[in-house]
Amino acid sequence: MRGLKVILLTLVALPAVFAVKSHDFKTCSQAAFCRRGRALATRARESSSWTSPYSVDPASVTIDPTKATFTAGVRSSIYPEIKFGLDVRVHEDGVVRVRMDEVDGLRKRYDEASSWALIADPEISREIQWTVAKDAVRAVYGHNNNIEVVVAYEPLKVSLLRNGQEQIVLNGDGLLHMEHFRTKEAVDQEKSGWALPEAPEEGLDLEDAQVVMQMNPRSWFEGVGDDGWWEETFGTWTDSKPKGPESLSIDINFPNHGHVYGIPQHATRLSLPTTAGEDAYYSDPYRLYNADVFEYLADSTMSLYGSIPVMHAHSAESTVAIFNAVGSETWIDVAHFVPKSTHTHWISESGIMDIFLMPGPTPADVFAQYARLTGTSALPAQWALGYHQCRWNYISSDDVRDVQTRFDEEDIPVDVFWLDIEYAEDHKYFIWDKKSFPDPVDMLHDVEAIQRKMVVIVDPHLKRTDNYPIYQQAKDLDLLIKKKDGQEYEGWCWPGSSAWVDFFNPASWDWWKSLFKTMPEGDKWAWIDSTENTYIWNDMNEPSIFNGPEISMPRDNIHYGGWEHRDVHNINGMLFHNMTAQAVMHRTDPPKRPFVLTRSFYAGSQRLGAMWTGDNLGTWEHMAVGVSMVLSLNVGGFSFSGSDVGGFFGNPEPDMLVRWYGVGAFSPFFRAHAHIDTKRREPYLLEEPYKSIVRDILRLRYSLLPVWYTAFREASVNGLPVVRPHYVVFPQDEGGFDLDDQYFVGGSGLLVKPITRKDVTETTMYLPENEVYYDYFTGHAYRGAATGKNVTVPAELHQIPLLIRGGSIVPTRERPRRASPLMKHDPFTLRVALSTTGTARGELYLDEGETFAHQAGQFVWRAFEATAEKGGKEIRIRSRDLAARNLDTAVDGVALTTYDARNAFAKDVARVRVERIVVLGLSREPRSVVADGKEVHWEYKAGAAAASKGEGTASMLLVKDPHASITTDWEITIHL
Ligand code: NOJ
Repeated sequence: MRGLKVILLTLVALPAVFAVKSHDFKTCSQAAFCRRGRALATRARESSSWTSPYSVDPASVTIDPTKATFTAGVRSSIYPEIKFGLDVRVHEDGVVRVRMDEVDGLRKRYDEASSWALIADPEISREIQWTVAKDAVRAVYGHNNNIEVVVAYEPLKVSLLRNGQEQIVLNGDGLLHMEHFRTKEAVDQEKSGWALPEAPEEGLDLEDAQVVMQMNPRSWFEGVGDDGWWEETFGTWTDSKPKGPESLSIDINFPNHGHVYGIPQHATRLSLPTTAGEDAYYSDPYRLYNADVFEYLADSTMSLYGSIPVMHAHSAESTVAIFNAVGSETWIDVAHFVPKSTHTHWISESGIMDIFLMPGPTPADVFAQYARLTGTSALPAQWALGYHQCRWNYISSDDVRDVQTRFDEEDIPVDVFWLDIEYAEDHKYFIWDKKSFPDPVDMLHDVEAIQRKMVVIVDPHLKRTDNYPIYQQAKDLDLLIKKKDGQEYEGWCWPGSSAWVDFFNPASWDWWKSLFKTMPEGDKWAWIDSTENTYIWNDMNEPSIFNGPEISMPRDNIHYGGWEHRDVHNINGMLFHNMTAQAVMHRTDPPKRPFVLTRSFYAGSQRLGAMWTGDNLGTWEHMAVGVSMVLSLNVGGFSFSGSDVGGFFGNPEPDMLVRWYGVGAFSPFFRAHAHIDTKRREPYLLEEPYKSIVRDILRLRYSLLPVWYTAFREASVNGLPVVRPHYVVFPQDEGGFDLDDQYFVGGSGLLVKPITRKDVTETTMYLPENEVYYDYFTGHAYRGAATGKNVTVPAELHQIPLLIRGGSIVPTRERPRRASPLMKHDPFTLRVALSTTGTARGELYLDEGETFAHQAGQFVWRAFEATAEKGGKEIRIRSRDLAARNLDTAVDGVALTTYDARNAFAKDVARVRVERIVVLGLSREPRSVVADGKEVHWEYKAGAAAASKGEGTASMLLVKDPHASITTDWEITIHL
């Protein structure tokens, strides 16, 4: 979002047609290193004899048995004088890490990306036996020794095989190229000796170029000329390149894997369309360069605000993945040169090669492997899963109070109110604009009265002015990012002239954390105009700089340790988020779970909080792509994600706004937000019937909070995403591999397809298996097929297509409340959706919701199971404790050694009961329903369809007050 443009927009109305200012952002052909990398790929493809010049020097191969690693020297026949070092190791869980760096180079390549992304140094497997052959080194491991990693010497190629078949191959197409450090003088001198014909002004045609290349192998490989090696311009900006060329190109192929997913963030389909090869869907590679892309396109490979260089490759037989730990700008081409196989080509501006190969073989394995590297999603505070109401801006304390009152008057639930940048005097974050917010703490207390929360924005740019203590302190402590000449960098953002803290500097960490303390220590600054329940929004942390190149920071700016901004650009936003999350967490003693929303992110950001997809437009296309973007983020390990409900720009018609609430209610992060120029659109302002529909949608979200929280808890344990695309849940069902408009919520069995088109009254949903699926609201039964089947479901404006997979038990809390903490002692409903064989299962995780007491065993974790017994004459529904049985899978990676089912939290909710059980799909009317040896009250509505048969209204048994507590074991028997 650019300042000047926003000001303009506030003066004139929003333009009728939104369009990204494409010229603000580079295409591959405008980025010299991408141009060079792609040209290399073109030359390789056009040459029948292309082979990689890189090879392992067999004499240098070293196997270190104590470290279980394999290292070797690598040379390029094009530059025999340059040395590279290769290091391959296998982790205990079978993940292979492949690193390559220049050895004794003129300079050092940036090698710290992984240290920011990884949670710890992975344990190396001691079991691995490397076998050295004449032409390769290999290691065999895994169950039945079915995994093999092979490093072939000449040309260098690293392959991961399963059952003898290649799954992931590095440098199979020979596109590896690590541009070594050199000096301009040496290059000029060398080139003066080259016998090359003068290039004609209009450039060389292909044939000429080939002649030239054959005359000089270096130009054959690297291309003619030193394209953008020493300096590069884009628009009015010049990027000086004191280090010269240092890019890294590598092809990563996935033989027999026809689909690739991930590498968020892009506004694209979930199954990534091609960017190279014949019939490429896009012409530019996917770009990872965190950027504030104003009015971004709804279908594009352009960069957006964050980067997670993680890609899944999938087929019906296998799922594998890679994580490319690089922090610099990276472009990725995707092609299917061989049908049902995927070729990718990664081109990064700088940094070492540090790639993790995840062998799968299932999506769940890959998620667990990635989680062991970079951590799981933090378990959020439970209130953070409620509804968040934001706009730019609520303009005063009284405005906030009014908005809160209106929600309550209209009985619309909401947990969090947000304040955007206008709360801060002259955009000096932390400092309230006392003209509009004279009483911030009183206002915060008013919001907190029924345990609601407030989130306020703190951006990374600091107004450069004497009367801003935060800036002055950062300056005095020498914590600000520098220009290449060592002087403080100045750029333009919301406050005008601004400076940026260098969060790569460890000295900034404690200082930043101290700023959020609400009680002063001595005469040190404290945020006394704040409370311990004030949470934070980190925006503009790509960083967004209105007068910078591509609305960001000059790449030759200098960070701590002397690294250039280009080396760390994609990691930068995560560090700010990290420090803010820690600051918020440590405001109290004992600490509370932080909530910090970020716009920019990197691999590992999932450990810190939530993200949203930035400045989307109020269009149906943006609404739709928001769904696949959130799925892609979930694939990239970042579950806690969502899009601005309503669309940031524009004034959605009521029907569009209603549909957007349907999308938001089924996103892990659910926040409405709007640009400063938009009309107010809080749900209470809607006319009927829209207002009631939105109220119902919000109540639906709140009733399903137990499902969301349980899904988040699972994500925090094993890395499985909170929203799951079809390929994750049904990895063998090809019919689901392309689907990105319907998905499952955690492991609950809920399958949803939010409507993202106008005037829809019905839609098709794809059922991937021969199982019954019930309409969540009506109990109507649909029947899938083993080969996959589309069914038509109603989708009028007031309807969200939501099905329960037969075989699931869904716990809900159905008492409408104003905010989620008020539901703490509310009773539960269990929806038992019987499978075709009369069984069902579900889980529920509960804890106090705000502190870390759960890590010490203060929680309740139950399984509900329905089984068919006595030849189908009885259905038994049971509740049993899962915590004591699964001590090794406690939350946040903290394993418990003992678990006391009577822990303090469990005692607190001991009187919470199951007030209702709804059983869908019984084959006939029960004779009796017995709980605790006593007949309980029940009602039965016969249906046209039994679960085991066809489609139609399913039978519904309602058991009222089955004498069942949520914390204890019980059993209910339905006698048929
Ligand atoms: C850009 C953010 O993306 C948007 O959500 C916010 O409202 C504006 N900055 C103003 O802070």
